Amino acid sequence: MPYGVAVTGLGAYVPERRLTNHDLSQMVETSDEWIVTRTGIRERRVAAPGEGTSHLATRAAREALQHAGLSPEEIGFIILATTTPDLTFPPTACLVQANLGAKRAATLDINAVCSGFLNALVLGAQFVQSGAYRHVLVIGADTLTRIVDYTDRATCILFGDGAGAAVLSRVEDESVGLVDFTLAADGEKAGLVYCPHRSSPAKVLEQLGADPKPYIHQDGRAVFKVAVQGMADAVNTLLDRQGLSAGDLRVIVPHQANLRIMDALAERLGIPSGRVANCIAEYGNTSAATIPLALHKWYHQEGLEKGDYVMFTAFAGGLLWGAALWRWG
Ligand SMILES: CC(C)(COP(=O)(O)OP(=O)(O)OC[C@H]1O[C@@H](n2cnc3c(N)ncnc32)[C@H](O)[C@@H]1OP(=O)(O)O)[C@@H](O)C(=O)NCCC(=O)NCCS
Repeated sequence: MPYGVAVTGLGAYVPERRLTNHDLSQMVETSDEWIVTRTGIRERRVAAPGEGTSHLATRAAREALQHAGLSPEEIGFIILATTTPDLTFPPTACLVQANLGAKRAATLDINAVCSGFLNALVLGAQFVQSGAYRHVLVIGADTLTRIVDYTDRATCILFGDGAGAAVLSRVEDESVGLVDFTLAADGEKAGLVYCPHRSSPAKVLEQLGADPKPYIHQDGRAVFKVAVQGMADAVNTLLDRQGLSAGDLRVIVPHQANLRIMDALAERLGIPSGRVANCIAEYGNTSAATIPLALHKWYHQEGLEKGDYVMFTAFAGGLLWGAALWRWG
């Protein structure tokens, strides 16, 4: 690849309304103690009525642009990862483009559920590395609380709303940016975690053995196991391929679904929990937004230096999983 790629701007946005474990215990049979012990989540944010995924994404993107010191017209491409688009079409990325005034940007929505930001980062970095675009804006934004069944205690405790964004910019130093990645899918396991919409065809639902209610459904225990396995395998593949060990990583930024999943992953990889970026207690699982929210928090609290290795890893309904190794610059 002719160019390197640097993260020149980061942004994050979460809605104001907090939904605490105590609030949930008034809605379903659960307790703060159960939720904290089993998931590590203490509260999550909920979009206001009328507040769309595009609004959250726009707020995060504005901060990222400001951080990068760029005007919206300098962005060549906007890639927005979301599973909760505001409309079936046009793509939510178009709404964000208009909100920002990023008139010269091409746009693309991608749906890779909780691994959406990982996929967007991998795609966006390659557009920059190849020389196709000088600045690409990648965003992960979701309003999952709109597809959660608040009578189902096994799922409603997990999810929240939020958005995170990163500006990827061309740099001459080729050693900076996306070092390696691996992305995988197993459509045979589509029935493990899914969300039908109101007109999902009956034959498809039958094929998956799916409940037609238009909410998130999951086999929590099975997802837990494949999540740990998939992310650990993906990370180890990249470490082996690059001749690195887990000790060489400054930080691992995993998808935030359950603190126990993140702890199990860290233990398998031999990484101390202090080097795992973590914002699950305050936001829960925000799907495509978890990785950029966790990165944003880590960057502002712990900092990152030129040359640091950052490992991103995620898993998602699909099933999808993967990892990306990034050299900070
Ligand atoms: C969902 C999850 C938190 C459940 O935790 P768990 O330790 O696996 O718990 P189990 O599902 O085995 O349930 C244990 C018991 O707690 C109960 N329980 C489930 N949710 C509860 C809640 N919110 N409060 C109290 N009890 C609850 C169950 O009914 C079960 O009771 P039983 O033993 O009487 O049947 C966990 O499996 C998980 O996080 N899985 C991954 C899900 C995920 O990441 N999804 C998104 C994919 S990107």
